[in-house]
Amino acid sequence: MSDAAPARCRIEIKGLRKTFTARGRDIVAVDDASFQIADGEFVALLGPSGCGKSTILNMVATLIEPSGGSILVDGMPVTFGRPTKQVGYVFQKDTLFPWRTVEDNIGYALELAGVPVAERRTRVAEAIHRAGLDGFAKFYPTSLSGGMRQRVSLMRTLITQPEILLMDEPFGALDTHTKLEMHSVLLGLWERARQTVLFVTHDLGEALTLADRVILMSARPGRIKDDFQVGFERPRDAVALRETPLYAEQFQRIWHSLGQEFAKGHAP
Ligand SMILES: Nc1ncnc2c1ncn2[C@@H]1O[C@H](COP(=O)(O)OP(=O)(O)OP(=O)(O)O)[C@@H](O)[C@H]1O
Ligand SMILES: [Mg+2]
Repeated sequence: MSDAAPARCRIEIKGLRKTFTARGRDIVAVDDASFQIADGEFVALLGPSGCGKSTILNMVATLIEPSGGSILVDGMPVTFGRPTKQVGYVFQKDTLFPWRTVEDNIGYALELAGVPVAERRTRVAEAIHRAGLDGFAKFYPTSLSGGMRQRVSLMRTLITQPEILLMDEPFGALDTHTKLEMHSVLLGLWERARQTVLFVTHDLGEALTLADRVILMSARPGRIKDDFQVGFERPRDAVALRETPLYAEQFQRIWHSLGQEFAKGHAP
């Protein structure tokens, strides 16, 4: 038995529910979801389209009000509409300001926080370098590729040094090659800071590449169906990992369970 103390719990979700009302009809989007995420853990929330992944993430981010249950971050209940200071959010769509350059987009949160210009410049330059964007500081988002824009989005959140990172399919719109590239970028950045991450995806390969744990949701109404540990050592090579027998084994194990939910989602 290990003597190491168990890692402290950063996110605790208990009996979480969300019912939307649209056109006079109630839609149960999330039904009795419970799970915990420990400090420094990288967790993927996986499930078919419409199963309630974004709804859960948005409730943790205080953007949507739960219909029931509770969300604790570092032991404190979160309050709808009041962002938790240790939490950062990376959206699916890049939400860059088209009228701001790369450096001004990345530095935006520091500007809002009143960080002095000299410190801002240093931190932005470092972020640009870490994201592999050297030489693009003065470019506007329209002159960047999709992958580059996502790097800027990522750094715009990471520059505030959030200890907890919520990510909603940030690479969902990218082609396979660019997505792999972004996995390498994210793994490299995460290795340095080891944030606690809740990463929403419907891509099992992505979940296995990045996460320590995969929480699988059922088709709507979204419930937690399974919780898998991912066995790859770190640091990981996002490309080589996919050639290993362990990858094939884990993919197959989770795919079966996920496939049942895809089938339900497509049932007439
Ligand atoms: N504001 C809303 N009003 C009404 N229904 C909503 C609203 N937001 C989400 N829903 C419904 O709740 C369910 C869950 O939606 P959610 O966006 O959380 O799914 P998701 O798992 O993130 O899907 P995807 O992978 O397609 O992004 C869906 O049936 C959706 O139609
Ligand atoms: Mg979604």
